[in-house]
Amino acid sequence: MNETRPAARGPLRLGVNIDHVATVRNARGCGYPDPVRAAHLAESAGADGITAHLREDRRHITDHDIDRLMCEISLPLNLEMAATEEMLAIALRHRPHAVCIVPEKREERTTEGGLDVASDENRLAQFIAPLADAGCRISLFVGAEHRQLESAARIGAAVVELHAGGYCDAHAERRILDRDRELKAICDMAAFGESLGLEMHAGHGLTFDTVKPVAAIPQMMELNIGHFLIGEAIFSGLESVIRRMRELMDDARSSAADGQADLAMASGLTAASG
Ligand code: PXP
Repeated sequence: MNETRPAARGPLRLGVNIDHVATVRNARGCGYPDPVRAAHLAESAGADGITAHLREDRRHITDHDIDRLMCEISLPLNLEMAATEEMLAIALRHRPHAVCIVPEKREERTTEGGLDVASDENRLAQFIAPLADAGCRISLFVGAEHRQLESAARIGAAVVELHAGGYCDAHAERRILDRDRELKAICDMAAFGESLGLEMHAGHGLTFDTVKPVAAIPQMMELNIGHFLIGEAIFSGLESVIRRMRELMDDARSSAADGQADLAMASGLTAASG
């Protein structure tokens, strides 16, 4: 092992986001497929947590889903939500293991950018205080920028989840330089965040092709993955897809390398293959 290589901090947790099981259910307005059933399958396939985003427009997960997830699953629930009074009341009623605050725009298809903590420090500090007092682990979903992490640490967040969407989009669109720049920013900010005392997570857009370099980042403690897993489950089944994702994460973790080039090689993400 290279002496300057930072050691991985421990096992990397996989949070499975079940929102899009509810998207399919809601497309027909009936009771199936059931996201709670997906949560049970995720657990048996090796997930460490369940993530669900209760959006203000309830386009996928509903209030009833959250009631059921809180009662029926044994894995910790990470409730993603916007910083609104309505969501605060819901989270305080349920007291999930973790609350991840995300920006939300009604017209967006999915969470497009990170939260602007730096421009909204006072309001967010007041918003998260009662949640932290209620015992929820507070996570803020942000872009890989110093000022956002500094603000997150200042207002007392326990966790920062770095937005991996830019990296994944660049990979899908074969914009190699952008992809590598985005990945480097995630690596750098994972180290910076940890130095501020934050626990580092990442999520959004991760697939079999893009997960390994992020999983190999030693400071990374949790990845939250949804859309790809649910989509791929159509072809291979949910348990098998989650198991495969787990294997890729564990492989990357055990061969974690210290530099950008090594991270790229760990996944086959080279300029030639990109
Ligand atoms: N993390 C956060 C904060 C998100 O908003 C989302 C999307 O809901 C995810 C992770 C999962 O992203 P994806 O569904 O693209 O894997």
